[in-house]
Amino acid sequence: MGDETERCKTGIVGFDDICRGGFVKGSNNVIVGGPGSGKTTFLLQFLWAGATKYNENGLYCSFEPDIVEVLSDARGFGWDFSRLAQEGRGQFLKFSPHTSVNELKAELTRLISKYNIQRICFDPVSVLALSLSEEGKVREVIYDLVSLMKRLNVTSVLADESFESEHSPNLSGDWSKTDILRFLADSVTTFYEGGIQGVSDRALRINKMRRTNHVRKAVGMKISGKGLEVLGGAVGG
Ligand SMILES: Nc1ncnc2c1ncn2[C@@H]1O[C@H](COP(=O)(O)OP(=O)(O)OP(=O)(O)O)[C@@H](O)[C@H]1O
Ligand SMILES: [Mg+2]
Repeated sequence: MGDETERCKTGIVGFDDICRGGFVKGSNNVIVGGPGSGKTTFLLQFLWAGATKYNENGLYCSFEPDIVEVLSDARGFGWDFSRLAQEGRGQFLKFSPHTSVNELKAELTRLISKYNIQRICFDPVSVLALSLSEEGKVREVIYDLVSLMKRLNVTSVLADESFESEHSPNLSGDWSKTDILRFLADSVTTFYEGGIQGVSDRALRINKMRRTNHVRKAVGMKISGKGLEVLGGAVGG
C-alpha cells in the first residue's frame, strides 16, 4: 500500500484505505452531498484526527449562522474543540456571507501562519457564493481561495451542497454557481444520504483524486456516536 506521494491521513476509519492513505498533502478537496449526508461530520472528524493523532493543527471556517451548534455537535461525537482551541491546535472561524473576499483571504493568511495550520475546512462553500451575485465573481473568488490554500501548502476540504442524486448537472442543464470548484479541486467525493445502488443506507464515492489510484465504486458508510465510518474495502486497482 502507499506510493511516493506524501499523504494527509484523514483519520476517518475506512476512508484512507480507499485512496492510498489519504488526501494528497497540500491539495484542495471537495466533498459534495445533500442535507444530512455527513459533510460537516467528515470535516470535524478530519480536523479532530489531524490535531489529536497526526500533529497537524486545523482551522474550521464556517459560513453557517451558528457555530456554537457545530461545536456542540462535535462534542456529541466526543470531540472537544474548545479544548483544542485552548491548546492552540484547532481554531474556529465564523464568516458572514458579507465578509469581503480580501478580508477573508487576509484573515486566513494571518491565522494559518499564527497557529501553524496544516488542515483547513470550509463549510459550506455555497453560502460564500450566495453573497456574490455574478457568476464570474464566484469563479474568481473560488479560484483565489483555492490558489491561496495551495500557496500556503495546507490541505483543504470544502463542503459543497447538492440536491442531485448523481454527480451531474441538474435537470435544467445548468451547473450551480460553485460547480467550478469540482473542476479546480484535486479531489471530489460525493456523499449519498440514502445509499446508492443498494450499498448500505449511506454511501460515498470518490469521483476523482489526482495522483491517486482510488476505489471508483460507491462504498457504504455509516454515522454513529463515534462519527463517520467508511465500510468499503481497500484499493483493488
Ligand atoms: N450520534 C449519531 N448517530 C447516528 N447518526 C448520527 C449521529 N449524529 C448525527 N447523525 C446523523 O448525521 C446527520 C448529520 O450529518 P451532517 O451534519 O454531517 O450532515 P451535512 O451533510 O453537514 O448536512 P447539512 O447539509 O444539513 O449541513 C444527521 O442527520 C444524522 O442522521
Ligand atoms: Mg453541514
